This record gives sequence, C-alpha cells and structure tokens, in this order.
Amino acid sequence: MKIILSGIKPSGIPTLGNYIGALKNFVSLQEEMKDFEFFVFVADLHAITVPHDVEELRQNIRSVAALYLASGLSVDNLSLFVQSEVHEHAELGYILQTISYMGELERMTQYKDKAKQQKSGIPAALFNYPILMAADILLYDAQYVPVGEDQKQHLELTRNLAERFNNRYGETFVVPEVLVTKTGAKIMDLQDPLKKMDKSANNEKGCIFLLEPIDTIKKKIKSSITDSESKIKYSKSRKPGISNLITIYSALTGLTYTAIEKKYENAGYGLFKNDLADIVANEIGILQEKYHKIINSKMLDDILDMGKAKAQAIAQKKIREVYNKVGLTRG
Ligand code: TYM
Repeated sequence: MKIILSGIKPSGIPTLGNYIGALKNFVSLQEEMKDFEFFVFVADLHAITVPHDVEELRQNIRSVAALYLASGLSVDNLSLFVQSEVHEHAELGYILQTISYMGELERMTQYKDKAKQQKSGIPAALFNYPILMAADILLYDAQYVPVGEDQKQHLELTRNLAERFNNRYGETFVVPEVLVTKTGAKIMDLQDPLKKMDKSANNEKGCIFLLEPIDTIKKKIKSSITDSESKIKYSKSRKPGISNLITIYSALTGLTYTAIEKKYENAGYGLFKNDLADIVANEIGILQEKYHKIINSKMLDDILDMGKAKAQAIAQKKIREVYNKVGLTRG
C-alpha cells in the first residue's frame, strides 16, 4: 500500500493558514494521486506539549476531525483517526528517542520559538516533539508527507532518523519525502506579515480562524496591514502585506500572481481587499456549513473508528517489527 500521511494539532481552532497550507492541499492531492491511501490524523498527543485546557482539547479533537471532512476530503481512500487512540505512536516515539541526539533537537526552530514563550519550566515533551512526529510518519511507511513550510525541518529530522535506524538495525523504515504546496505553504499574519499566521498567536486580528463568524473574517481581511504604495503588486521582500493577500487570493481562486496583478492593475487596495474578503468568506462559509452537518453526527464517529482500526493494523505490525529489530523480544 502506498501511503500519504499528515496530521494537524488540535491546539486551538485551525486557521486559514492550516486550510491553505494543509487541508486544501490534501484535497487536491487526493484528487491527483489516486493510487495512494490517505492517512490523516488529529495530532492530539502533540497538543499537550504546551499548557492546555482539558475540556477545550476534547472539543478541538472532534472539531479538527470534522474539519478534515468539511474541507472536502473523500472518504473512499481515507483513514482519519485520532493519534492517541493508536498507542503505537507513543511507543515508537520512545524507541526513536534512543537514537535521537540532543544537539539535533536543540536546533529545531519551532522548539526554540515555543520554548521562549514558556513562562516557567519547558516540558521535556516539547523538546522531544519532533521525535514523536517522526514516529507518526515512520510507523506507516508513508512515502509522502504534505505539510506547510514550517514543518520542513521536522521532516528533515524524520528522514535522518529513518536512515539512522535503518543503518543501525537493518532496513525497516521508508524514508519519507516532504510535499509542500506550490502556493500558500506559509500564510502570514494579517497584522504582522513577517510572522506566520498561527493559531496560538497573541494578536487574534491577524489570524483567521476557520470557525469564527463570517463577518469577523471579512473585517479581518479588510483591516489587514498593507504598505503605503497602493499598487497590487507581488513582492515578498518589499510589500509583504499585499503579497500575502495575493497569495491567499491565488490559493483560493487558482489564478496566478500575474493574472491577479493584471486584474487589479488600475484598482486600489480597497477594492482588492473587498473582493478577497468575499472570496475567503464564500469558501469558509461553505466549509462551515459542511462542518455543522458533520460535527455532531454519528458518521464522524464511525469514520474515526474505521480509521483507527485501519491505522492500528499497520501500526501494530510495524511496532512488532521494530521491537524485534532492536532486541526487545524474549531470548
Ligand atoms: P500544525 O497543527 O501546526 O499545522 C497543521 C498543518 O498546517 C500547516 N500550517 C501552515 N501552512 C501554511 N501557512 C501557515 N501559516 C501554516 N500554519 C500551519 C503546517 O505546516 C501543517 O502542515 N507538528 C504538526 C502536526 C503533526 C504532523 C505529524 C504533520 C504531527 N505529526 C506528522 C505531518 C506528519 C503541527 O503542529 O502542525
């Protein structure tokens, strides 16, 4: 079985960044790569590496699962599951800790950023986070892992760990390849376009959450930061604000940057932002409608149960092989 796998952390409600960089991309990949099985999961074990509200986490696990389906993923070649329900993730994570180096983990930029935000005591699990992520992927021998730009470094580590394990214990894991969407792999904050749009950002005005009221979403787009020269022209270094909006426009409509520039050649920011607000509102509006139909349905639980069963069957086999390879079997 050829597998494409990815995960989303249920720490907060996913954003437009998650939608464009991950969810929407999964949907097009699923259409393009028909001979692959898609394994997507709610990365809940990752969500507890930072302080969290227990009840909120429970809700968010379900919400993220429903958002996968609301985005338009077809259930035909899909296994959707909750990470913590397949305990082999944690088990393989532990085994991979034994071949990971402190030095390589210290270099992870996401760890460094998150550690800075901790007021007191950095959890060891935050440090080990990329190892668990490697386990998520290697457990299934995934060939491709579609993610946004911010996860590329973790994917590089995953590849290193797979190769290291294979060298030490014999061929066991497929070395996965990262797939990054061509447009929108890093959607930026609407108020600070030099920062990634992030569900845990301090300024909520800069971040569009997929389940917030459509009017709020429109307002956020219309009041996004742009530079003073009022031309619709893509230049990431000189005009990061408008370039980010052009990227969002392009990702949602399929129009190229050049086509968008041409379309708005004689227009100012006002008109462009109004149009973009409508485009985003329309797409997220449809997503929300589907979401509300799914979120309390039994169908969602059935899909998650089936996904768990399919994931577990593969994971169990793999973990047995790994235990055997490292010598964790009675002599
Ligand atoms: P998470 O939950 O932070 O993000 C989920 C996916 O969304 C992408 N993404 C973005 N893409 C474009 N612009 C943005 N502003 C933006 N913000 C986030 C992320 O790159 C990601 O693809 N560690 C992972 C979850 C995970 C995982 C895995 C992913 C756990 N195990 C195994 C793949 C394979 C994470 O925190 O993603």
